[in-house]
Amino acid sequence: MALLDVEDLSVTFRQRGKRTVRAVDGVSFSVDAGEVVGLVGESGCGKSVTSLALMGLLPRQPGISVGGKADFDGTDLLRVDRRAMRDIRGRDVAMIFQDPLSSLNPVIPIGRQVTEVLTRHRGLSGDAARKEAADLLDRVGIPDPTRRLKEYPHQLSGGMRQRALIAIAVACQPRLLIADEPTTALDVTIQAQILELLKALVRDSGTALVMITHDLGVVAGMCDTVNVLYAGRVVETARRRPLFAEPRHPYTVGLLNSIPRLDAGRGDKLSPIPGSVRDVLPWADGCAFAPRCDRQVEACVGEPPQLVLTHTDRTYRCVNPVPAVGSAPAVAEPAVEAGPGPAAEAGPESGPVGPVAEVDPVAEEKQSSVPAPREEESA
Ligand SMILES: Nc1ncnc2c1ncn2[C@@H]1O[C@H](COP(=O)(O)OP(=O)(O)OP(=O)(O)O)[C@@H](O)[C@H]1O
Ligand code: SF4
Ligand SMILES: [Mg+2]
Repeated sequence: MALLDVEDLSVTFRQRGKRTVRAVDGVSFSVDAGEVVGLVGESGCGKSVTSLALMGLLPRQPGISVGGKADFDGTDLLRVDRRAMRDIRGRDVAMIFQDPLSSLNPVIPIGRQVTEVLTRHRGLSGDAARKEAADLLDRVGIPDPTRRLKEYPHQLSGGMRQRALIAIAVACQPRLLIADEPTTALDVTIQAQILELLKALVRDSGTALVMITHDLGVVAGMCDTVNVLYAGRVVETARRRPLFAEPRHPYTVGLLNSIPRLDAGRGDKLSPIPGSVRDVLPWADGCAFAPRCDRQVEACVGEPPQLVLTHTDRTYRCVNPVPAVGSAPAVAEPAVEAGPGPAAEAGPESGPVGPVAEVDPVAEEKQSSVPAPREEESA
């Protein structure tokens, strides 16, 4: 059984006079010890809300409802009481927050914020805690760590604050680490250093890492399994290599196609996904990606698409996926208005979750026409 098993997680925000926001809508994924699982998607697709829900950090107040299950080694993180959650947080489960400034206490020196965790969860105090704290700052690339320990968050640059936050998160070698855009604010050399640090944590301590990012280079360099989110739902899940080599969901294809490439010809234009993430259809009315999808067919609207599981351990939520390499296209031609009928007509692999005869697994390693970022480019 996985260390963390998230099942049907949903988070809804209701505010009087405003539209109800289903920020997370039935998200399921799992992470094993020593595994890196990516949550990827555009801004606003629910990545941070997912992580805050798992950490028990969404305010418990009317108007915010959290549903589903998040089994962490036998404990449901969504149901555990506050006191128990405080013990779990920092010791067993840690998080690197997207916004370092609002996550650090502005009136407490950085050093105390690091040593507090070491004292509470590792029993270190006095010089031993200070020495370990300085060592942690050094490992995340903060120069002159002994001096920095005495400084307040506002005295550090944005990148340094992010690194201090990472030091706090890794201080106890947590069993599960949720990293929400941990390197977005950092320049590339520090980014590489931090990613190495996280990799070492996973390799040496068996930490399970949930990597939240919209940077596909980071995904290519770090993740074992990738979950692509759109409008609060997972729309495709696959191991990293097959996902990059052969994306099946049109949104995943769009994400990969929009990566700038060094080997692109002069004058080649980027291929962004048309429209914006605001152009969504409510899932209840069909596929949320339909307004932006160039493979839309009639069956995409009316019923929300079910998750399809292929025998290569890939799932996608699409009635007209990009055909697998070497297989007949699911539909002859993508058509926006006059497509074929319901999902069942689209091909043998379309249908609700359940093993379906599909692609030759060897095809998983074949390259498709979609460019995959090279791993060395992501370091
Ligand atoms: N407290 C809140 N009240 C109402 N809506 C909220 C609240 N917090 C988040 N949302 C909405 O939930 C959706 C998901 O937000 P979230 O912060 O998880 O996006 P994200 O995927 O992390 O985006 P980004 O990549 O920009 O960080 C957004 O539409 C956001 O506006
Ligand atoms: S083909 Fe249809 S179901 Fe698939 S992503 Fe496009 S609109 Fe959604
Ligand atoms: Mg976010």
